[in-house]
Amino acid sequence: MRIPLSRRAVLAAASAAAASALLPRRAVAASKAKIKIGLLLPYSGTYASLGNNITDAMKLAATEHGGRLGGREIEWVAVDDESDPAKAPANVNKLVVGEKVDILTGPVHSGVAMAMMQIVRQEKTLTIVTNAGAQALTGSLCAPNVFRTSFSNWQTSFPCASVMLKDGRKKAVGMFWNYSFGQESMSAFREGFTKGGGTIVKEIPVPFPTTEFQANLSEIASLKPDAVFVFFAGAGAAKFIKDYAAAGLMEKIPLYGSGFLTEGVLGAAGAAADGIKTTLHYADGLDLPANKKFREAFKKATSREADVYAVAGYDTIHLLAQALDKVQGDTSAPKDLIAALESAKTDSPRGPFRFGKTHNPIQNVYVRQVKGGRESVVGTAQKDADDPAFGCAMAT
Ligand code: PHB
Repeated sequence: MRIPLSRRAVLAAASAAAASALLPRRAVAASKAKIKIGLLLPYSGTYASLGNNITDAMKLAATEHGGRLGGREIEWVAVDDESDPAKAPANVNKLVVGEKVDILTGPVHSGVAMAMMQIVRQEKTLTIVTNAGAQALTGSLCAPNVFRTSFSNWQTSFPCASVMLKDGRKKAVGMFWNYSFGQESMSAFREGFTKGGGTIVKEIPVPFPTTEFQANLSEIASLKPDAVFVFFAGAGAAKFIKDYAAAGLMEKIPLYGSGFLTEGVLGAAGAAADGIKTTLHYADGLDLPANKKFREAFKKATSREADVYAVAGYDTIHLLAQALDKVQGDTSAPKDLIAALESAKTDSPRGPFRFGKTHNPIQNVYVRQVKGGRESVVGTAQKDADDPAFGCAMAT
């Protein structure tokens, strides 16, 4: 039986509806559900430690904001992407379509990131790339809803060429995992090295995530270059450094690379890593108050040493917190949130950080050298390094 509403009840309901329509949308947003943050990261395989450090540093930054972003509690939803591009569409869909995350973060692997781009460009999901360095993410595939808090491969590999040339090494071999990031690193290095008068004697692509290096190391020994430029990372990098030293090559043919070669692997590589020179936008020995504070807090929270991957995770949440505070937790007006993120700045452990026009960081790139198991800064390869952003319409 329908019970007729009294006139008073109807009026009360109508005035409540009118009042809520007048309430600023933001006040409603701030009082509502948790904010869902998706993490598309590797928790298994050769990049597992990278995924774990990004995740733990994100959570550390969140606790520094009282566990809230823009007044909303956080719900983390993590998917192990296994650094497998073939599984990426299904994994991204799980987070974007299935979980309807408010913000997607990750991945580590550039091949996974390329597959992710197709979906987030279409769905317009606000996405923050926390590692993958593929040029296209903030280049030919750039999009207003996609930001990157890490680096482009060009930023980390191109400057290594002049470091090698300044050390008087003019004949180089390149060795890298043969997928987009390794190929692009090689080509950025090649560009700088050949323009500066150097010669690449040989390029050795290795299938990802293979760590059988012996045959390649024998070849390098017989080629006798002045130096070797390398891209390996995570567990594979630790294995490479140990194999290179065990083959007796470290003293004869110095190793160089983008800094991923030594990030987070110094414990595992031990004394074998001593002397390796790399270029990167971070070094654990950076003498900055923000770096010291961050490293201590990360160690306290995880009992592990922080690295460049942790820095990207940490900055991601601090930048997001700023942007979400500005829009009072309202994720329903993408233009406002994007504008807030574009103007966010953080006192990063890596030094000054700001987003460029293509949403890639503008940041210093340092020259580092491993000394006594620590990464010390021996110079600045490029101050405020921007990315060439090939093919991004937002760059103009
Ligand atoms: C990448 O695939 O973009 C990638 C992976 C691991 C690194 C750096 C870049 O350490």
